[in-house]
Amino acid sequence: MVSEGTAKLLGQLLRVIRDLFHYRHAAILLADEAGKYLFLQASLGYRGRAGRNRPIAIGKEGVTGWVAAHRKPLLVSDVRRDPRYLRGIAHGRSEIAVPLVMGKQLIGVLDVESEKVNAFPRRDLRVLSLFASHAAVAIENARLYQECKEAKDRLQKLIESSSDAITTADNRGRLVFWSKGAEAIFGYKASEVLGQSATPFYAKGREEARRIMGQLYRKGQLKNVEVDYVGKDGRKIFASLSASLLRDERGEVAGSLGIIRDTTEFRVLSQQLLQSERLATIGQLSTQIAHEIMNPLSAIKMNLRILSKREGLSANDRRRLEIANFEIDHLQKILQDIFDYSRALQLTLSHEDLNEVLEKSLLMVHDRLEEKQITVTKRFGRKLPRIPVDLVRMMRVFTNLLINAIQAVAQEGQVTVTTELLRSGQERSVRVTLDDNGKGIAPAERTSIFEPFYTTRRDDTGLGLTIVKKIVEQHNGRIEVESQEGQGTRFIVVLPLGAKG
Ligand SMILES: Nc1ncnc2c1ncn2[C@@H]1O[C@H](COP(=O)(O)OP(=O)(O)OP(=O)(O)O)[C@@H](O)[C@H]1O
Ligand SMILES: [Mg+2]
Repeated sequence: MVSEGTAKLLGQLLRVIRDLFHYRHAAILLADEAGKYLFLQASLGYRGRAGRNRPIAIGKEGVTGWVAAHRKPLLVSDVRRDPRYLRGIAHGRSEIAVPLVMGKQLIGVLDVESEKVNAFPRRDLRVLSLFASHAAVAIENARLYQECKEAKDRLQKLIESSSDAITTADNRGRLVFWSKGAEAIFGYKASEVLGQSATPFYAKGREEARRIMGQLYRKGQLKNVEVDYVGKDGRKIFASLSASLLRDERGEVAGSLGIIRDTTEFRVLSQQLLQSERLATIGQLSTQIAHEIMNPLSAIKMNLRILSKREGLSANDRRRLEIANFEIDHLQKILQDIFDYSRALQLTLSHEDLNEVLEKSLLMVHDRLEEKQITVTKRFGRKLPRIPVDLVRMMRVFTNLLINAIQAVAQEGQVTVTTELLRSGQERSVRVTLDDNGKGIAPAERTSIFEPFYTTRRDDTGLGLTIVKKIVEQHNGRIEVESQEGQGTRFIVVLPLGAKG
């Protein structure tokens, strides 16, 4: 089937022929791509069209088949005396057919018939051939135009349905095309960015944009290069860029084409996976090590105790034994932390008043508070409902937070402990807030402090907050941190009333 445009053109050509030559029956047959058959595509004055609806085998049948095969015009004055004749019009007597060719390519055949014997003078053959050479070009152009249009429409659909961002830029880097996918990923409408430079989209700035464009111009194309972009809302977009240079007819670079795939979700997920794998390995390894150390450590501790009961020890030796004992306690605390961190916690719940739990925790760190002459302000909410907690674990949460605060403040620092009952709809919970006026935590460190083994103190393990978080979450609670460098830090622990163990 020919397109609408081509069909219209064929009809026009036939009408011109009719008007110029006064022919009554004319037809245009087009060859298939393989050049094997002719198909009737347009006709004038054929009422019955007998035998014309089926394809004509080129070189095997009909006057038109012969003309197509030999690419020569043919005039048959009396069809009854020509064995090649295939019946066309009802009472056909003479026929004239000229090939439609462009260069070496056969496009089809222009065919004219008459009911009269000897209807066409020889001159018609030449004039018709001349006409056919122009018609062939016009038909082929119409076909090419149609093909181009279809290819363009297909491409357009493909581009618009792609969720990737597809963009082109001219050779000065100004955006010329911006697909629907690009609008979705970057948040900018085409009208907002066309004609602008793509450089501001590079998260790492102008240098990065230059480097990548440099690579593209050197290699001619780029495949799946990881690039960070920024979207309209300032959102960081992790993406994979494939690009190639666009060239004009002379082969000179006219611009570039970029296909950008948003891999943000994928990258965040794989980072999380990597992180959790890393933590799992650290957890396993450290538990094994802790187990190996635990037993010999207990043996050392026991032997030290026996030694310290000896009579006649000098004061110096006794002091040495005390130091050794102190260090062993410290080691045992680290080991306990590691066990708690790597094992699933089994909570033993009892209903407790968090104000009392805090009082007990403050008692535990009393010496350290004294030592630094820290002022503790208690702003306890009155009549807090008792909530189900694991008392020992909850005390570890608060002592850990208090010790961190004590370590963070200067001599004569301040620590404030606040408790209050929270209500939001049906939900009730208790909020405990610990404020200190210590050195604070830098924004960059804030995400790391809950990670295992993250510490800024040389002699500490960095498991404190990891375990605090684990215990709080096991109580279905949550912990948050707010901090101002040089001003102080606030830890907020929220525990729901109906915690399940
Ligand atoms: N109140 C605070 N003020 C300032 N920095 C803090 C505070 N609490 C925690 N940090 C920072 O967070 C880091 C991690 O704390 P975390 O309690 O997990 O480990 P740690 O105290 O260093 O060691 P330990 O395992 O003995 O608790 C600390 O090293 C410190 O840098
Ligand atoms: Mg700590």
